[in-house]
Amino acid sequence: MRSSLAARRPALTPSGADPSIATGARLGSDGDDAAAAPDGRPLYLPVTLPGERAQPGPSSLDIHKLGGASVSIQPRVVVVTGAARGMGQAQCVELASRGYHVCAADCLPVEDTVQSVRNAGGSASGHDLDVGLEASWQALIECGLHQFGRPYGLVNNAGINDRASIAAETMEGWSRVLAVNLTGPFLGIRVLAPVLRSVGGGAIVNIASSSALTGYRGAAYTASKWGLRGLGKTAAAEFAPWGIRVNTINPGLIDTPMGQGDPAFIASHLRRVPMARAGNAREVSAVVAFLLSDEASYVTGADLSVDGGFISSGNFWRIVADSDAFA
Ligand SMILES: NC(=O)c1ccc[n+]([C@@H]2O[C@H](COP(=O)([O-])OP(=O)(O)OC[C@H]3O[C@@H](n4cnc5c(N)ncnc54)[C@H](O)[C@@H]3O)[C@@H](O)[C@H]2O)c1
Repeated sequence: MRSSLAARRPALTPSGADPSIATGARLGSDGDDAAAAPDGRPLYLPVTLPGERAQPGPSSLDIHKLGGASVSIQPRVVVVTGAARGMGQAQCVELASRGYHVCAADCLPVEDTVQSVRNAGGSASGHDLDVGLEASWQALIECGLHQFGRPYGLVNNAGINDRASIAAETMEGWSRVLAVNLTGPFLGIRVLAPVLRSVGGGAIVNIASSSALTGYRGAAYTASKWGLRGLGKTAAAEFAPWGIRVNTINPGLIDTPMGQGDPAFIASHLRRVPMARAGNAREVSAVVAFLLSDEASYVTGADLSVDGGFISSGNFWRIVADSDAFA
């Protein structure tokens, strides 16, 4: 039974992308008050692609005709962190396809993401952001989100992984993971919420993990994602009077650079996924888009698993496989 079960489950297709995980190398206790990154780069960097003028923001949605009168309808502006690749990149493309202007923010270059959005006819701007630095968030806000439309949302997607056990984890590793995965969203929410309040509200989506629902491999990562879930619930309560909804998505194994790794670990994980496959980034993006949208107008403080059934019933298959219960 065990072998036939395993045969049903396809291996995660390697994307060929660099499997290394961004380390948030510019993080550090000495950087929090800096006006510029340690390497001297400005903390806010709108991306202008070669041969292009700086993009002033969206144009296609600006003017709509209503009863013969011309009125300006600004697109909603959403900041997506960790936008250089993986799920963040997919979210930018998805949200732009739905008419949002996306502020693609990352500590890695985001030109590919901005180009992908524009190639698809969408609107995007690129921003250099290290989520763990408060000054970096301030610089993002000071660039003037209003120039792109009506500030509306934030997707706290940036994250780094660290599979070290408690015994093996270093203080440096622990601090780095917590700074990116937990302090980063805290800073983003704290900086963005007053901006959203000033224009009548908005929506925030945090990308946590299945690791936020169970004990899992990687003490710092698991702790950071449990913390992010808790932060989201408190934020939902605090900001409901401001018209801001805050929700959390808990992805399972998703085929991105972070989702790559030890084949045996991945194969074992997939044997616990009832849908018998990894997810793809677009399947998460669609849920992000729903939670940001007015379709979710009464949804706040919620958690939504996007994991092929891993958390809800992954143990079912494990028990079946280990006991031949269906033999
Ligand atoms: N891939 C998975 O299987 C999986 C599963 C559950 C949850 N998640 C979570 O989903 C989110 C996206 O993951 P992914 O799979 O796309 O990962 P990824 O490694 O492909 O992309 C993460 C992005 O975050 C950016 N980033 C890292 N540190 C940053 C910092 N200090 N400031 C700004 N940006 C920073 C990276 O540069 C990168 O572009 C993460 O929060 C991750 O923890 C991923």
